[in-house]
Order: sequence, then C-alpha cells, then structure tokens
Amino acid sequence: MTQNTSAQPLIHGGARTPRAALPHLPPLALYIHIPWCVRKCPYCDFNSHTASSVLPEEEYVDALLADLDQDLHAVYGRELSSIFFGGGTPSLFSAAALGRLLEGVQARIRFADDIEITLEANPGTFEQEKFVAYRKLGINRLSIGIQSFQQAKLEALGRIHNGDEAVRAADMARQAGFDNFNLDLMHGLPDQSLDDALGDLRQAIALKPTHLSWYQLTLEPNTVFWNQPPALPEDDTLWDIQEAGQALLAEHGYRQYEVSAYAQAGRPARHNLNYWSFGDFIGIGAGAHGKLSHPDGRIVRTWKTRAPKDYLNPAKSFQAGAKELTNEELPFEFLMNALRLTEGVEARLYAERTGLDLASLDEGRREAEQSGLMQVEPSRLAATDRGQLFLNDLLQKFLS
Ligand SMILES: C[S@@+](CC[C@H](N)C(=O)[O-])C[C@H]1O[C@@H](n2cnc3c(N)ncnc32)[C@H](O)[C@@H]1O
Ligand code: SF4
Repeated sequence: MTQNTSAQPLIHGGARTPRAALPHLPPLALYIHIPWCVRKCPYCDFNSHTASSVLPEEEYVDALLADLDQDLHAVYGRELSSIFFGGGTPSLFSAAALGRLLEGVQARIRFADDIEITLEANPGTFEQEKFVAYRKLGINRLSIGIQSFQQAKLEALGRIHNGDEAVRAADMARQAGFDNFNLDLMHGLPDQSLDDALGDLRQAIALKPTHLSWYQLTLEPNTVFWNQPPALPEDDTLWDIQEAGQALLAEHGYRQYEVSAYAQAGRPARHNLNYWSFGDFIGIGAGAHGKLSHPDGRIVRTWKTRAPKDYLNPAKSFQAGAKELTNEELPFEFLMNALRLTEGVEARLYAERTGLDLASLDEGRREAEQSGLMQVEPSRLAATDRGQLFLNDLLQKFLS
C-alpha cells in the first residue's frame, strides 16, 4: 500500500535539562489496536466504532505492518516480551488475518521465547473453532469481556451477549487450550446491589480464570451514559461492594496486585505489568499510544491517527503526534503507573527507567509519607492502602 510515510514532527517538551542516558533500555512490548465492535456500548469511551458488515481486515493488517515499520528504529535490538491485541473487539478478526499480522510482526522483531500474546475477545463474536485457530497462531492468553452474568445488567450495559454465552466463552477458551485467561468484569452497575455484584464475582470465580479484572463502572465524557446517566448505586453500596468483593477474591486465591487487577499466583498480566513498571511499548493501530526510550536518554510518547478511516487513508500519516517527556514530567509519569501496583516498585527502577536521580522524588515522597499516602520504605516506591484510594491526591504531590 502507498501510505504516506512522513511522521508528524516531534513536539519537544520545552528546554531539556541534561539527563543521564539510561543504563539499559527497558523491556519492549507491542500493543495492537483493533478499533471495531459489533455495537458501541453506552459507557465506553475507548476508540471503538460500530463495524460495517465487512471489516477491512486485509487493508488494516497492511496498514498495521506499515505503521510498525515506522517505529522499528526504536527497537534497538530488543526482543518483544509481550503483545496485546486490544480494542475495540479484536475477536472480530479472523485467525487468517491475525496470523498474517503475527507473521509480519515476527519477521520484523524477535519474539522472546516466553512471549505472552493476549487477545481481547467478546462473547458473541467467536465460536470454538476460532479460539482453536487463535491458539495455533501462538496466542497464549485471552481476555474475555464478560462485564456481568446477569441479563438485566447486560442489557443495561448494551452488551450483545447473554449470561450463558459468557459462561460458554470461558469453557471454550479452556477447551481450545488456553490455560491462561482473564475475565473482565465491572461493578457499580446500574441498580446493582451488593448481592448482585458478589453473584457476578462468584460466577466468574467458578470458571477458574487465572486473572480477573474488576473495574468500577465510571461515567466518561462523550458517552451515552454521560449524557443520560443511569441510576448508579449509592456511595455506601459501592464501598460495601468493593470491600466484600476484594475479600471474596482473596478467599479464592486471587491476589490484588493493581487497582483493578487480581491474579492467581504467578499469573499477573505481563503486558500490563510492563506498562505499570514504565517499560517501553510500541503502539500500532488507530489511536494507539506508545512509549519509547532511546539510548541517549530521550523518552518519547507517541500516538497514532485515531479515526479508522483516516488511519487507512494513504494520504495521511499513521503517527498523529509524539512528545518527548521532560525532566519535570517524568516523576509524575513514572509514578502514575508504578503506584497503581499494590506493592509498588523497587525504588532503583526509577533511575533505571527515567534516567533521573531518586533524590528528585524526595520532596514529594516526604509530603506523601507525612499524609499517610505513601509507604515509608526507602527501597520501594509504594502507595499505602489510603494512597491507592486517593491516587490522584497522591500524584498531585509529584506535579512540577
Ligand atoms: C475497552 S474494553 C475492550 C474489551 C472488549 N471490547 C470488551 O468490551 O470487553 C476493556 C475493558 O474496559 C472496561 N471498561 C470500559 N469502559 C469502562 C467504563 N466506563 N468504566 C469501567 N470500566 C470500563 C471493561 O471492563 C472492558 O472489558
Ligand atoms: S466496551 Fe468493548 S465492546 Fe463495548 S464499545 Fe467498548 S470496546 Fe466495544
């Protein structure tokens, strides 16, 4: 294809105070965005669009590989530790299209021997054979978008599947050979009681996923729910759901390791852990974001053209923008990720990933520790329980 290859100019984040070159580059992951869904959900503000009857699979795979070609300069000989097909609804794509894409990626960047390859799948968009074919391609982890098992809740959320299909999806995943799969659930749903929420969690736990993502529903600008808010549970109920849900998950061996992520022992999502520990990632596809470090110490965020039709338009460039992070922005950027982790990160990772001296955090740390928002532990950067609840307040302390 004849996609315009000129990238947008890099926006420099102001004058750059010298920063040490990174001792070594972080691990490298790849995010691939598939921007289509059967139907747009009323609460969703992700870059997802109702698909027309025929998806431009071939054209999109060509575009993704051409997009990747333009980011290859930032690989610097690293191998890929993980790949994540997110959306949108990646399971709308055929195994043939994803196979060609994965082959193309592997021809360009080496895969780690133990690479984790995750695909987001929505019940109602696949059958058993599709999962079997995905598994044969080397996709070794599924993230299944369940949200709720209760019919009234699924309808309120505008989902295309019912509770039975949700249960079947997990069974199909296991039968297709996926021994590692996540279920996405939401709580704080319209008119949800504590019993409703715990019922959903119990049903999910019974399916024995290795990982559970349990998000509280938020009303996001530019969504149908924002303009016509449904009746959400009272704050007291939300609090009860959170507390009782966490206890139930812990009782069944799901350890919380991030604000919304719970995993069986040894099964945290490696791709997401890389984001939260300020690793590097190439983002390809409509609206995909990336973060890339360079040996000279530059750390650059990139974002791609958002509307699928523009992304596929040969007259437009894939890259919509790029911004080098300044020394003033880096503390916040690093901690915004790291402090989401329940146990935080080792303090030495800060210098390793940002090139800045750990002392640049001293003032913010002191204030956060005094407010009870950060743990007093010299060798770790970690929020307290209270700090995780009030993460925005905590992060404010590191804004320049
Ligand atoms: C963007 S979706 C992509 C996965 C897939 N398309 C799906 O619908 O399950 C990723 C996850 O984000 C969560 N999510 C999306 N919008 C949300 C919102 N407004 N509040 C809380 N969680 C949300 C849902 O749990 C969803 O599974
Ligand atoms: S929640 Fe998932 S299925 Fe619904 S519109 Fe968003 S990306 Fe698509």
